[in-house]
Amino acid sequence: LPPDTPPQTLSERSIRAVAELIKDGRAKRIVVMTGAGISTAAGIPDFRSPKTGLYNNLARLNLPHPEAVFDIDFFKKNPAPFYVLAKELYPGNFHPTISHAFIALLAKRKLLRMLFTQNIDCLERTAGVPPELIVEAHGSFATQRCIECKTEFPDKEMREHVERGDPPSCIKPGCDGLVKPDIVFFGEQLPKDFYDAAAVPAMADLVIVLGTSLTVHPFAGLPRMAMERTPRLLLNMEQVGDLGSRADDVLCLGECDKGVRSLADELGWRDELEAMWTGI
Ligand code: APR
Repeated sequence: LPPDTPPQTLSERSIRAVAELIKDGRAKRIVVMTGAGISTAAGIPDFRSPKTGLYNNLARLNLPHPEAVFDIDFFKKNPAPFYVLAKELYPGNFHPTISHAFIALLAKRKLLRMLFTQNIDCLERTAGVPPELIVEAHGSFATQRCIECKTEFPDKEMREHVERGDPPSCIKPGCDGLVKPDIVFFGEQLPKDFYDAAAVPAMADLVIVLGTSLTVHPFAGLPRMAMERTPRLLLNMEQVGDLGSRADDVLCLGECDKGVRSLADELGWRDELEAMWTGI
């Protein structure tokens, strides 16, 4: 955009102006969209960061290509690599980040309209975001079932199988289908919740995108579904998607936890945010 493009809604394209919008009560239906980048500070690698991303560190699983670990056809032939990864990623050993806590604070202040997350680590729930305000677009480890007959598999046994790295089979007599967590694999449909919430981004009066490369559709198309005049704030290491192409887009490139803390400072919520995070 030419530098002199006048902002339409924001007084200027800055974190301060976004904070003003919230403090003035002009942002009450905030829609947040997140990816693996908000959990890297919790110790969970993302997928595509050059050195640390999961897809650059799966050589030990000798996969045909990195994404195969989440490919349903590959899983049916060989579930072992996924279960090696599942053991490393399984919820229970990680603590939410300050970014997760910020989203929970938005919800506590009744400003969160919806959180769309691509993450499967359930850290948003752990941080205290009400489940009814979370769309886990790529599913999560919270539940699991047989991929053949869809019979649910018990949580306790699942945790034991994951610990042992031993892919479980269906509990239904006569069915020996493989059991898989309810994570959306490449080649699988996204959950109904995602499509039921399709109209939500257009209702947002502020969109905040955190920690995602916006490379996987249909999730990657969500930020574009905001109305033209709705400010969109990107808190991410790098510019992604079409963020930056609209007059009210604000790009805050760098660690999302740092960007979240700056926003909390501008809002006067910093102490409340830190206390909330410590209390999780
Ligand atoms: N602060 C800000 N940005 C970060 C941080 C951080 N601490 N850590 C990583 N990032 C950024 C990276 O620069 C990258 O732009 O977060 C983004 C992470 O992108 P991906 O690794 O591609 O993760 P994500 O966008 O969630 O992947 C989408 O791909 O394989 C599928 O289903 C999987 O849900 C996943 C989807």
